[in-house]
Amino acid sequence: MQGFYGMIGDSHRMREVYQAIELAANINVPVLIQGETGTGKELVSRAIHNHSPRNKEAFVAINCAAIPHELAESELFGHEKGAFTSAHRTRKGKIELAQGGTILLDEIGDMEMFLQAKLLRVLEDDTIMRIGSEKSIKIDVRIIAATNKNLRQAIDDETFREDLYYRLSLFRINLPLLKERKDDIPALAEYFFYQVNSQFDKNITHITDGGIKRLQDYTWPGNVREFKNIIYRTAMQTKNNFISSDEIAAILPVIAISEPDEPLNQPSWLSFSDETSLDDMEKEAIKRVLVLNNGNKQKTAQDLGIGRSSLYWKLKKYNLCN
Ligand SMILES: Nc1ncnc2c1ncn2[C@@H]1O[C@H](COP(=O)(O)OP(=O)(O)OP(=O)(O)O)[C@@H](O)[C@H]1O
Ligand SMILES: [Mg+2]
Repeated sequence: MQGFYGMIGDSHRMREVYQAIELAANINVPVLIQGETGTGKELVSRAIHNHSPRNKEAFVAINCAAIPHELAESELFGHEKGAFTSAHRTRKGKIELAQGGTILLDEIGDMEMFLQAKLLRVLEDDTIMRIGSEKSIKIDVRIIAATNKNLRQAIDDETFREDLYYRLSLFRINLPLLKERKDDIPALAEYFFYQVNSQFDKNITHITDGGIKRLQDYTWPGNVREFKNIIYRTAMQTKNNFISSDEIAAILPVIAISEPDEPLNQPSWLSFSDETSLDDMEKEAIKRVLVLNNGNKQKTAQDLGIGRSSLYWKLKKYNLCN
């Protein structure tokens, strides 16, 4: 099973995505891919590149959230020898390295404002300037930007430039959450346990109907990445040549197994009896806010008013993650 450039799923939502990829591949405009964590943003950007006339040239990815402030500009645009103290030699930036091909600006929502201004200039006149150089270099690079942030919100918060957003978002692809395409779950499960079979010399033939139902009932805050992880783990652990509902249940995180019955944003959603311990209350509160935020830990920590590391510590303490 190959799917569309390694993408599995025949649901209506995924077919729309494949159509968008085909369209985007054949026109040379920037593309903005929006989707929650693990929905396949990187896979989609590679598919666009591989399907495009640029597919013999480089595909270069840069994670805008992961580069330290002092290095970010040089990473993107490169520098001339001597441009700053540690610039012992001339170095091309990622955009220049993608010449003729495609660059993926991953997590663009975390790009710093001063770089956003520079990127806008690249988009406007197709040239870059290495740090420490006066010479502009003509570039022919397709830009794909990906984000799991709401950029409109970021514009309101004044952390993202509106003019850059308009430039980048001429062609937008929104990726569905896994819970919005539950029909694809059997095919995805099969795809991943076949991978386990070939990589680890296993011989899994199927997942029971009950097992599939359990997979479909879960809300998958981590989307396909989390799904893949669960299938790999159950497939590795089973002693049978099939995966059962109980084996899946034993491995699924306790959070978000089903949607809560009452709306979470009502003030009544957290109510406890007098006997409830403080720890239980805290655990319940964290669980609920995590579900509300679709498993997004950063947002959860923010909403709870605690730091990220203390959230991780509490998740561990209450056994809310694997
Ligand atoms: N439709 C799909 N079919 C098969 N595998 C998929 C699909 N979508 C995602 N995956 C797999 O799920 C994992 C996560 O995908 P990817 O890295 O593209 O997601 P992402 O949106 O970039 O995530 P993040 O926001 O966390 O960076 C990868 O292993 C990828 O191969
Ligand atoms: Mg990614």
